[in-house]
Amino acid sequence: MTAEHGSLTVGVIGLGHVGLPTALGLAEAGWHVLGADDDQARVGKLARGAAPFYEPGLGELLGRKLADGHFRVMARPADAVAESDVLFVCVSTPPREDGTIDLSHVKQVAELVGRHANGYKVVVEKSTTPVRTADLIIQTVQQLSDHRMDVVVNPEFLREGRAVHDVLHPDRIILGVESDRARATMERLYRPILDRLPAPGECAECERIGRRHAAGERLLITDRTTAELIKHTANALLATRISFINMIADFCETTGADVAQVARGIGLDPRIGPHFLHAGIGYGGSCLPKDVRSFIRMAEAQGVDVSLLRAVAEINERRIERFVDKLRQTLGPLSGKTIGVWGLAFKPGTDDVRDAPSLKVISRLLAEGATVRVHDPQAMDNARQLLPQDSRRVEYCASPYEAATGAHAVLLLTEWDEYRALDWTRLRRVMASPVVIDGRNLFDPLDVRAAGFEYIGIGRP
Ligand SMILES: NC(=O)c1ccc[n+]([C@@H]2O[C@H](COP(=O)([O-])OP(=O)(O)OC[C@H]3O[C@@H](n4cnc5c(N)ncnc54)[C@H](O)[C@@H]3O)[C@@H](O)[C@H]2O)c1
Repeated sequence: MTAEHGSLTVGVIGLGHVGLPTALGLAEAGWHVLGADDDQARVGKLARGAAPFYEPGLGELLGRKLADGHFRVMARPADAVAESDVLFVCVSTPPREDGTIDLSHVKQVAELVGRHANGYKVVVEKSTTPVRTADLIIQTVQQLSDHRMDVVVNPEFLREGRAVHDVLHPDRIILGVESDRARATMERLYRPILDRLPAPGECAECERIGRRHAAGERLLITDRTTAELIKHTANALLATRISFINMIADFCETTGADVAQVARGIGLDPRIGPHFLHAGIGYGGSCLPKDVRSFIRMAEAQGVDVSLLRAVAEINERRIERFVDKLRQTLGPLSGKTIGVWGLAFKPGTDDVRDAPSLKVISRLLAEGATVRVHDPQAMDNARQLLPQDSRRVEYCASPYEAATGAHAVLLLTEWDEYRALDWTRLRRVMASPVVIDGRNLFDPLDVRAAGFEYIGIGRP
C-alpha cells in the first residue's frame, strides 16, 4: 500500500493490543508512524523487533515496518507528539473497583500533547472511554497549549487474535468529528486502507465472517459523543447476545434441547445472524466485562434504566459457578481431585488472560482443594503471573495429553484449534477417570462418548 497526496506523520501513544496493530496497520498503509509507550521494557523489545505479546502476523509485520522505516519506536513520547500531525491515544483505560473507568492514562497523554505540541494536531481518541471523554481531552490539551487542535473519536473494533487482519480490513471506521479540517485529515489517513480492501472472495477471513460491504459503506462520520456511544453499544450488544444464548443453554439443559441447534436455527435468520451465539462459560477478556460495567455506570449516572444490561452482567458472572457445578455433580467434592485444564487465554489466537474465565474457574477449583494441570498453546507465561505460585497445586504441561494425565476430569476452557483433533483413545488411557466437561461446546459429543468418556457440554443433551 502507499499513502498518496503528500505525507502525514502519525504518532501512536500506547503500544498494546490496540496501539501496536493500529500503528503497524497505518505504517503498512504507507504512512510514517512513530510509536511511544511509557513501558520502557516494551519500548526496548519493540525497537529490537520483538512483539511484546502473541498476535498472529504481528511479529512479521513489525519486522517489515521497522526494516522499511515506516515504523519507528520513540524513546520519548514527547518526541512523538512534536513530530506527528495525527496522534492516536491507545493507552489503557482500566476499570475502578466500582466499575467506572480510570482515565488517568488518557489524561496523562492529553497533558503530554498540550505541553509538547508545536502546531495544529489531530488527537484521536482510540482507547475506549466513557462518553464525553473527547471533551475532557480537548479541554486538557487547550488549557496547556496555545496551538488550536482537534479531537476525533475513532473507536476500535479489532478482535484480539485477528488484530492484524482487522486493522487492514476493517468492517467500519467510525469518525466522531467536529471540524472539517480534522475530518479531512482522518479521511485522508484511512483512504489507503479503504482503497485496498479485498474484493469479495479475495480474503478467506472476510468471507468467513461475512465482511463484504463496499468501502463507501464502511466509513461513518458522526459527532464525537455518538462515536463514543457506538463503541459502548456494540460491546453491550455483543455481551447481551452471549448472555442471551447462555440463558437459552440453561433452558435447553432443563428440556433436553440442543443449544447449538437452537443457535443455528435462529442464526439463519438474516435479521439475527449467526455470530456471538455460542453458549459456554461466558464472556471475558479485557474489554467486554469492563465495558459492560462501565456502560451501566455511565447510563445510571444519566438516569437511564439499564436493568437489561445488569441482567447481562449477572448472567455472565453466574456462568463460572454453573460450570464448576457440572464438575461437582460428576465427581462429587473436588478436594483431592486432579483436574486437567485445556485453554487459559480468554479466547483462541491470543496469549491474553486478562479477565479470562479460565482463571476464575481455576481459582474456584483450587479453593475447593483440587489440583490443576493446565495447558495452553500461547498463554501459559501470562497465566503464571496470575495463578498461585504453588507448583504442587498448579502444574504447567507441555501438551493437552500431559495435562490430562492422572486427571479425574478435563475441562475445555478455550476453543483453540489444537484441541479439535485429539486422540481420545490415548486420553482415556492416561486419565484417572474419563470425564470431559466442554465449556465451549468444541467437541462432538458422539465422538467423545464413543471413546468411552462421560461428556458434558453446555446446553447440549
Ligand atoms: N484489547 C482489545 O481487544 C481492545 C479492542 C478495542 C478497544 N480496546 C481499548 O483500547 C484501549 C487499550 O487497550 P489495550 O488492550 O491495547 O491495552 P494494553 O494494556 O494492551 O495496552 C495499553 C498500552 O498503553 C501503555 N500506556 C499506558 N499509559 C500510558 C501513558 N501514559 N503513556 C504511554 N503509554 C501508556 C501501556 O504501557 C500499554 O503498552 C483500552 O481503552 C481498551 O478498552 C481494546
